[in-house]
Amino acid sequence: MLALFSLALAAVVAAQTLSPSVQHAKRSQLPSGWSRVRRHAPDAVLPLRFGLAQPNIDFNTLEELLNDVSHPESPNYGNHWTATRVAEHFAPSDEAVHAVTSWISENGVPRGRVHVSKTKGWIMLNATVAEAEALLNTQYHVYEHDSGKQHVACDAYNLPAHIVPHVEVVTPSIDFNAILSKRSSSSTSTHIKLGQPGTGTVNPKLTKSVSTILHELENCNTQITPACLRALYGFLYAPLAGSKNSYGIVEYTPQAYRPADLDMFATNFSSIGKTLIGARPVLASIDGGVVQDISESFDFNGESNLDLEYAMNLVTAQQPVTLYQVGDLEMGASFNNLLDALDGSFCTFEGGDDPTNDGIYPDNVAGGYQKDDCGIIKPANVISTSYGYNEADLSPAYTARQCAEYAKLGLLGVTVIYSSGDNGVSGNGGLCLNPDGTQTTDGKIFNPSFPSTCPFVTSIGATQVNPGAKVTDPESACNQVIFSGGGFSNYFPIPDYQKAVVASYLKNSPPPYASTVFNSTGLSRTYPDLAANGANYVIAIDGQFGLVFGTSASAPVVGAMLTMINDARITIGKTPIGFINPTIYSPAFRGAFNDITNGTNPGCGTSGFYTAKGYDPVTGLGTPNFPRLLAEWLLLK
Ligand SMILES: *[C@@H]1O[C@H](CO)[C@@H](O)[C@H](O)[C@H]1NC(C)=O
Ligand SMILES: *[C@@H]1O[C@H](CO)[C@@H](O)[C@H](O)[C@H]1NC(C)=O
Ligand SMILES: *[C@@H]1O[C@H](CO)[C@@H](O)[C@H](O)[C@H]1NC(C)=O
Ligand SMILES: *[C@@H]1O[C@H](CO)[C@@H](O)[C@H](O)[C@H]1NC(C)=O
Repeated sequence: MLALFSLALAAVVAAQTLSPSVQHAKRSQLPSGWSRVRRHAPDAVLPLRFGLAQPNIDFNTLEELLNDVSHPESPNYGNHWTATRVAEHFAPSDEAVHAVTSWISENGVPRGRVHVSKTKGWIMLNATVAEAEALLNTQYHVYEHDSGKQHVACDAYNLPAHIVPHVEVVTPSIDFNAILSKRSSSSTSTHIKLGQPGTGTVNPKLTKSVSTILHELENCNTQITPACLRALYGFLYAPLAGSKNSYGIVEYTPQAYRPADLDMFATNFSSIGKTLIGARPVLASIDGGVVQDISESFDFNGESNLDLEYAMNLVTAQQPVTLYQVGDLEMGASFNNLLDALDGSFCTFEGGDDPTNDGIYPDNVAGGYQKDDCGIIKPANVISTSYGYNEADLSPAYTARQCAEYAKLGLLGVTVIYSSGDNGVSGNGGLCLNPDGTQTTDGKIFNPSFPSTCPFVTSIGATQVNPGAKVTDPESACNQVIFSGGGFSNYFPIPDYQKAVVASYLKNSPPPYASTVFNSTGLSRTYPDLAANGANYVIAIDGQFGLVFGTSASAPVVGAMLTMINDARITIGKTPIGFINPTIYSPAFRGAFNDITNGTNPGCGTSGFYTAKGYDPVTGLGTPNFPRLLAEWLLLK
């Protein structure tokens, strides 16, 4: 007995000596409206959860994994992963689970009280405050909000050094994710930005109403129609694969399409083959997403109508379009809520959704959606989103977590497309950065767009048919109403696929700006990757025709072309094209784009970047030359 006891004691002492206590997280300040009221009672019970770190999630590993299935010269090109393989590859290891559970029991909590989640992502125990404080070398306090709501938290906590690599997050700890009533003034938070027109989004801009649709191909400089786009990009294709293929368009409630407008558009613009009158997208509702008809105006219907009218027309009635309608009418939603629905493991990884930026479901207000949709949807082959943030709206950690998730979609063979923004080198709202990181309209530092700066998505900028020019003339970077979003990331390093073209852009067309204005090292991710027309789109909107502008238009058009390339590949038994960036930047695809060499993307009091021969951070590699792209992609495995 005695011998055993002293042996155990020796082991504990040894572990402590080997593994010093390390601070894992610390809050810099209390969120406004909260104050500390007292030490928490030592015998109170906390639902303590340790979120384990995912292995293989660092940038270089992700890039390597993606290149293996997406690089045209890789022997594994097109061998996309199953969802199970993705889940297993990024699941915490048995070793991590063992290290954390052993450490907890070494500290006196019987192993029987410690639970491991099925995905191995979480280790959970109901701990007394005294136990949690001993494990985490911290103190828990009770805080009270001005509204009377209470919350338990600590200011900082520690973990033994040998546990640190295995743990991403501990809850409850420093965070104040106590959801207050959404309408209360203290939480005019940003988390429903995406679902609210005008903030945090890339909204298309409406200029004037259209009384007569002009004879199409002769007037593409003043009115863009599906026929103009088909002529510009050689995009004539009648699909054959039908429901074996898929194209997803993402909208955030309360954005909603108007069914009558889809029919009006289909009446005036015929597509290839069967009529689209009466055709609707297939609704995939996420977190209570509804096509609301309570509020109708350009702000509520413009984005959805634009995306769906063009996407559906261009892929024709033979190809179903899926509408990912995300978020209920109360809470709204963000990109992470969409990603949760596409990958169940994302719901909780690294602590799960962030209450300041994401919708938190279940939404417990009256009328709110009472579930949290995790892993309910098999992602479409191509997913196009015309919404975006300024990179600086979000933390590097938040964007890295989300960006890794786009890489996982790439492994599954999904092409993820985002519009690049409508403000040139400025961010949404014309905001530019100041040296202290704040964003103001008079800032001088370029303000890149996210998710476009994530190297694992494909970002689409905007071009125009020049005033007075013919549809057969070369396009320029868009400089009517909007400017093509583009530039250099402040958060993400340059991916392999861009290294050569960015080096040559910086060498041959050095931007005339100081290195304080943008990251000029050539070591950061640049965007967009591609471009397509974004000016003068005729859309049916609230019973009329109007003209709209934006990379919002460009993204679903490129998505439609890529969807038709998937159709051709699927029809002959090949795989979808998946993550396209390593392919489109490869030498074989050099001639498959119409290079845009005229125009800039002004912002922040400058002309922005200049287009150039080859790649530029205004229009990327150029606009698609559909027949060339189709031919090249059919040659690939
Ligand atoms: C913690 O206690 C609650 C309430 O008794 C129970 O529902 C839950 O399963 C417990 N969790 C763990 C990890 O033991
Ligand atoms: C749309 O089509 C209808 C029916 O053909 C026609 O009367 C109308 O003028 C067209 N609208 C425009 C704006 O050209
Ligand atoms: C530029 O970007 C690279 C890659 O992200 C980074 O390592 C470097 O620190 C950045 N330079 C500046 C001046 O911000
Ligand atoms: C370049 O673009 C401008 C508009 O941005 C246009 O007026 C001009 O004609 C274009 N020049 C050429 C050579 O395409």
